[in-house]
Parts: sequence; C-alpha cells; structure tokens
Amino acid sequence: MKQQLGKFLGLCLLACAMALTVYAEGVNWSVRYLHNGQSLVRLHQSGKYLLLPVEEKAREAQINLLVDNHTVSTMNVRLAVEKVDYFVPFECASYTPQSMLLDIRGVDEKAICWKEMKLTDTFDKQNTEKHRPLYHFTPEYGWMNDPNGMVYKDGEYHLFYQYNPYGSMWGNMHWGHAVSKDLISWQHLPVAIAPDGLGTIFSGSCVVDKNNTAGFGKGAIVAFYTSAGHNQTQSMAYSLDNGRTFKKYSGNPVVMSDLRDFRDPKVSWHEPTQKWIMILAAGQEMQIYSSPNLIDWTYESSFGKGQGAHGGVWECPDLVQLPVKGTEKKKWVLICNINPGGPFGGSATQYFVGQFDGHRFVNESPDKTKWMDWGKDHYATVTWSNAPDNRTIALAWMSNWDYANNVPTTQYRSANSVPRDLFLYESQGDTYMASVPSKELLALRDKGIKKGSFKVNKEYEVKNLLKKNEGAYEIELVIKNEGAQEISFCLYNAKGEEVVCTYNLDAMTFSMDRTRSGQVSFSKSFPVVTSAPVVQQDTYKLRLLVDKSSIEAFGEEGQFVMTNLVFPEEPYNRMKFTAKGGSCRVMSMNIYNLNH
Ligand code: FRU
Repeated sequence: MKQQLGKFLGLCLLACAMALTVYAEGVNWSVRYLHNGQSLVRLHQSGKYLLLPVEEKAREAQINLLVDNHTVSTMNVRLAVEKVDYFVPFECASYTPQSMLLDIRGVDEKAICWKEMKLTDTFDKQNTEKHRPLYHFTPEYGWMNDPNGMVYKDGEYHLFYQYNPYGSMWGNMHWGHAVSKDLISWQHLPVAIAPDGLGTIFSGSCVVDKNNTAGFGKGAIVAFYTSAGHNQTQSMAYSLDNGRTFKKYSGNPVVMSDLRDFRDPKVSWHEPTQKWIMILAAGQEMQIYSSPNLIDWTYESSFGKGQGAHGGVWECPDLVQLPVKGTEKKKWVLICNINPGGPFGGSATQYFVGQFDGHRFVNESPDKTKWMDWGKDHYATVTWSNAPDNRTIALAWMSNWDYANNVPTTQYRSANSVPRDLFLYESQGDTYMASVPSKELLALRDKGIKKGSFKVNKEYEVKNLLKKNEGAYEIELVIKNEGAQEISFCLYNAKGEEVVCTYNLDAMTFSMDRTRSGQVSFSKSFPVVTSAPVVQQDTYKLRLLVDKSSIEAFGEEGQFVMTNLVFPEEPYNRMKFTAKGGSCRVMSMNIYNLNH
C-alpha cells in the first residue's frame, strides 16, 4: 500500500515537473513554450505529416523548420487559437525526429493549436466542398492564384500555379504543379518550386530550350519566376525530367531593378531576331528584355505610359502573335493584367494590339482600352508556351483580389477559367481579341437536349433544364430579335437564387446580374452587374459554360466574354426568357451536361 502511494506521489511529482517544462504534448510530439510568443516543437517519433490546425481569422504565426540546428525553411501559418477550421499537412517524412525542430513564433501558450496538432501517416484530400467545380482546375487543398509557367512538352500540358500549401488564403507562395494530356483532366503533382533565401516564388513562365541555348541540357524546361524577397528580382530554375523536379540556377537572380513592383516574367522565343524575349511588369509599365541564352538579359524598351487603363498596378504580362480571322494578317498582342482598376472594380485583363519587332511593342490604337473579359473573375491571364498546332491557349485565374481570400470555400480557394483559344478579328475599323473555349471541352458534353425554336412574347419558361443537374452544364443559344428592346434570361433554382443575363438592344450591351445568385454577402464588392458592349447582329449567339461556382459566357464566337463566380445553394435548373418592347425568337437552345 505504502509502496503504491509512493509510486503515485512520484508520478504526481513527475507530472508536475513535466507540466512546468512541457505544457502540451501529443502522443508523439511535445511543445516547450519559452517567452515572448516563441515555442519549440519536437517530434518523438517519425511520421509522414505533422497536421497543423488552421483558424483563418488567427494571425499568421511564423514557423521555422530547423534541421541539425540550421533553418531550412520558414512558413507562415494561421495556427488555430480558438477553433480549428481545417488542417494542413506539413511533410516531415524526410527528417529524423532527432534532427528536426520547429521554432514557432507569435502564438500564445493557451492557443488550441498546441492540443490539436497531430503526427500522422495520412492526409485526407477527398473533396469536402459543395462549390468545388467539376471541370475547372482547382488545387486539392490550399490556396491558388495565378496560373504560372504553362508549357507544353512531349504530349503533356504543364500547369504551374501560385500556391499556398499551408492554408487556403494567400501566403507562402510556391509553384504548385499539375499535368494534363487534354487540358481537362489534370493529374496533381508535388510542389515544383519552393521558397528559398531569395524569397517566395511569385508568378512567371516556362520555355522549352530546344537548342540548349542556356547549356542546362537540350530540351530542358526552363522556368522564370519572381523571387519575392526584400525586393522583387527575377530568378530561373530548370528541369531535365519534364518538370518533375527543378534545379534552381546558382547565379540567381538574373534580372534586377530598383523598382518596388517588378515581377511576373513571361519568356518566349522571337524567331526573326533569334533571341529570347522577356516581358515583365514594372510598376504601371511593361519592360521588355532580350537574351541569346536565357541567362544574360539586355533591357530593350518599356511600354505603357499613357496607354490603356492605369487604375492599379500592371501584372502578369504576355506577348503573343495571333492570326486575324478571315485575313492573312498576323498581329502582336500585349496582354496586361491590372489590379485594381478593372471595369467592375478590382482585377481584370486588358490587352493591346499592335506590332513587335523584337525590341519594342507599338500599340496600333493607343487611345482605346480593350478588355479581354467583361466579367469580374478573370485575372492573371497568360498563355501556354510551345502549344501544338500553332495554337495560343490562355488560362485565367477565376477570381478577383477584391474578395479572393473570402470566397465561401475553405478546403481550397480558387479555380482557373476553362482554357481558351485566342485569335484576332476586325470589327468597326479596329482589331480585337476573341477567346473561345478550347475544343477539348467539347468532349465533356453528353448527347444533350435540343429545344426547337420558340417565340418569347413577354415570357417563356423552361421549367427543367436537365433531368439530373449536377451543376456542370453548357447552354448554346441562338436568339433572333423581333423588335425587342431588351431580351433577358434568368437562370434560377428552387431556392429563388438567380442570375439574370440581359441583352439591352438600345444600349447594345450584354449584362450578367449576380446580385441574387446565392451566397453574395462575404464581400461588398461581390454582388455586381457586369456588362459588355455588343455589336448589332441578325441573331445573337451565346455559349454559357456553367460549373458549380462559375458562369462563363462567350458571345458571338468569343467576340465578348464574361466570367463570373456564383455560389448557389443548389444548381440553377430553370430558365425564364423575357422580351420587353417587342418579342424575340430563340432559334435554338442546346443543353448539355458536362460530365467529367
Ligand atoms: C497577380 C500577382 C502577381 C504576383 C502574384 C503573387 O495576381 O499579384 O503579380 O506575382 O500574384 O502571388
């Protein structure tokens, strides 16, 4: 009895002593709080992942990973203080528990993260989000913004993207990576490029160095990105195994400036001058550099003063040559993303059409601002390098910096637009860019429902768009105006959530009203009506690509495009047409489920 009491007291003493030194402990890890918000976490056992509990409204804590007493990486994580929103995996399989120490700054000793961390061998990536699109690219978990480094090689389309693996809000920029053979089905691959001593990894591009101009190897994929450190500089990395692993160039950075905003290098090969061209964003201008070998860059010129929209910083440029439809001509297009300063607030993509001689871009209509997309969720648009069949395929990030961090998803945030093929067309004495959904998307259609022609005299209702509506579908419309001043259609659901699209034939506009589209209150700047100019036609042609949380409208074979996010509780499965001031005839209406 005495002996047992002694043992019990001994255990109590030990527990008290431990409580003084170790204030939280999982089965296989322990935390020691020091002073001034610093804690040290040590693992007692190996495991594949340390699951870190995140609370989105918490401040970012700084986590330094030390291996053998050296800091090998630093990340910022919103470690949970009061409640856990979700977990993010920190991969620790490659370190022994003895060699590894996490030095965490900025979290109170009472925060619940200390009890909630878990060492595991699995991390569940199964979808938990009802708004996750079915045929648009999303990261499995975590935050995504701009598409980066898109390049085609050996039958694969590579998509890299701005990625935060440690939370579903912006931060810790890495290049995430996925590949596809058809631009539709994507295989997720491990992170391609991670932050280093020069900074986090901001947006950029890739090229295939077919002639080994850089000396890294014939056919190397060479990536250019912005090292976002104390300042923004341009760095490079290369891959000799089709993008599966990258080695950073030891002479980084390769392009520098004394400007604060200096980023997003897009590199391409300019055949006539036999040089590589880099275009990058520099404040409210674009700068152009050239190089014979991808390593040594010479400044050529700047573009932008007094041209186009300047309501914000210029970002993510691209420079492509496109055919002008119905002619033998080709012209150059400078794509320029701008934030804020878009036509409906926040982010948008403008473009300039003109000539480029390898040194200088000249805009042929300097007094006009041209928008590539008239929605609110089309940003950071860039094109694939080395795409087959002379195609120019673009992809946009389908969000807006006005509210991207607050959209109502948590497991992941943000999707990309569908891939779009670009070309130019002439209209009313000027040249514009059209974007059409890439042909690969046609393979997603089921056999569809084809509705014959019907007249809209005031109102016409389609009660059931699809028998089984998963929220991913396409509607093709051809509408003939018969004297109406306004033709509208409303997509809605049983909950009364609706999106109203209107052709105003007095003002010659097409608009999309998402003010009652579902969840809209997460940001004041989300419930908006977006509007595009329309040219008068005999019949108006429209393709609507609808997914769980987006609508992309392509009018007149891509002559105007409008991309908007929506967050309905359930799919819109009804449609009501209205004609005001006259009637109209829907010549054809095809509805397809888009099955992935
Ligand atoms: C555009 C952008 C880029 C930058 C990146 C950072 O959305 O601001 O200019 O490289 O995002 O994530």
